[in-house]
Amino acid sequence: MTFRIPAPQILIDGQWRDADAGQTLPVEDPSSGETFAHIAAGTARDVDAAVAAARAALAGEWGAMPAFERGRVLARIGHAVLEQIDDLAHLEARDVGKPLKQARADVVALARYLEFYAGAADKIHGETIPFQAGYTVYTLREPHGVTGHIIPWNYPMQIIGRSVTAALVMGNAAVLKPAEQASLTSMAFARIATEAGLPAGALNVVTGLGAVVGAALAGHRDVNHVSFTGSTGVGVEIQKAAADNAVPVTLELGGKSPQIVFDDADLDKALPFLVNAGIQNAGQTCSAGSRILIQRGVHDRLLAKLVERYQTLTAGPALADHDLGPLISAKQKAMVSAYLELGRQEGLIVAEGRVSPDAPADGHYVPPTLFANVTPDHRLAQEEIFGPAVVVIPFDTEDEAVAIANGTAFGLVAGVWTADGGRQMRMAKRLHAGQVFLNNYGAAGGVELPFGGVGKSGHGREKGFEALYGFSTLKTVAAHHG
Ligand code: NAI
Ligand code: MG
Repeated sequence: MTFRIPAPQILIDGQWRDADAGQTLPVEDPSSGETFAHIAAGTARDVDAAVAAARAALAGEWGAMPAFERGRVLARIGHAVLEQIDDLAHLEARDVGKPLKQARADVVALARYLEFYAGAADKIHGETIPFQAGYTVYTLREPHGVTGHIIPWNYPMQIIGRSVTAALVMGNAAVLKPAEQASLTSMAFARIATEAGLPAGALNVVTGLGAVVGAALAGHRDVNHVSFTGSTGVGVEIQKAAADNAVPVTLELGGKSPQIVFDDADLDKALPFLVNAGIQNAGQTCSAGSRILIQRGVHDRLLAKLVERYQTLTAGPALADHDLGPLISAKQKAMVSAYLELGRQEGLIVAEGRVSPDAPADGHYVPPTLFANVTPDHRLAQEEIFGPAVVVIPFDTEDEAVAIANGTAFGLVAGVWTADGGRQMRMAKRLHAGQVFLNNYGAAGGVELPFGGVGKSGHGREKGFEALYGFSTLKTVAAHHG
């Protein structure tokens, strides 16, 4: 399979050009460790140019375009994305190291966001407010202006979908800064969007290092909203940088999400979710279900099933479509391996998958690993590992399950498995999370469903209609006419 590798350039005002300093960065294939492309290493001056282009787009064709027309442009981009699914999926599988079937699912998700937000374009509106005699009062929903989008390497296309496309449909002009580890599909997406008729400057893409390009964007004086997905540490820095300009931010910072299984759960239904939520994308998923809490009555039986499944799991090259691929980088492998070593030393590992014999030695593979009988306050049960490593924690009562589930600094999503309807409702209310799944996990990625965290998982919501409120501001107009 051949696929088009984008040239190492940035997109500003509809034009692809070299970065200001003319530098590039190598692009690594995590499956093999090989360099297979380069990206432009943008600078703060490039960010200035991108922000200026976005500002100009707001004053030009893009800013004047009616909402339904913006929707039509997004719909056309959505069709084009699906037409190029093979190209995009291969590019992403190669760049991120994710199995091809996951990369294809990411392309489909990106198209679904474009379809959803295309349809929403002309369905978001203000209200009239009953007020004192002699007044007519109404609200106008307006774009923030220039939006900055700093995205990570784990799901570039899905995060473009939930962040950039929602901002665009509300009439913002965007500057996208992809992660240096995985920028290629962001560039391919921008090319597709331009070819599908997105006006120049509505979307600008500056690739490069986080500390250079990301920092310049987050602290830019002429950016009106910043959306960030990534690590908690960088998210806090971005919020501080944006605070200097009193700019709102949306932060999506990962988690340590629990999957809670009660004695009365349908274990056979739960099992594939419990496994997949831990290993999808090699565990490099913000909403990974990385803590499995099991009530004592079914603990040993379910643990045995999990062990059996883990022993069949294989990590291997992305294009060979194994259960999981490599980690993104040598740095990520070192971080994850330190956790695996900690669990090994303490005798907590109960099951390990394998690394496929066809995996190149310089790829960043780790075996999927299950830890059991982990205490809730253990580092393995508290810290985001961001690899295919899951802890199993036993519990006795509903109150104890809630205390353990809520007992980390994070609060992104939670899954609950129980046949008891009352318990489902109680748990949904008591869990600290932005999304709670009852007898499922992840709701198949539902683009319609508002998503985001509490606590160190961040704040603000993307996905669904809720994202459109986040990517817009409200103006109240009070007319006195006597
Ligand atoms: P990161 O937070 O450094 O990278 C995310 C994005 O932020 C990238 O585009 C990066 O270039 C940019 N960035 C980095 N430093 C910046 C700065 N000073 N100012 C502005 N932008 C900056 O994440 P990293 O180092 O790649 O991964 C480390 C850990 O972060 C992972 O092990 C995982 O725990 C967490 N993470 C969580 C993600 C999520 O989906 N919530 C995604 C990626 C990482
Ligand atoms: Mg890469």
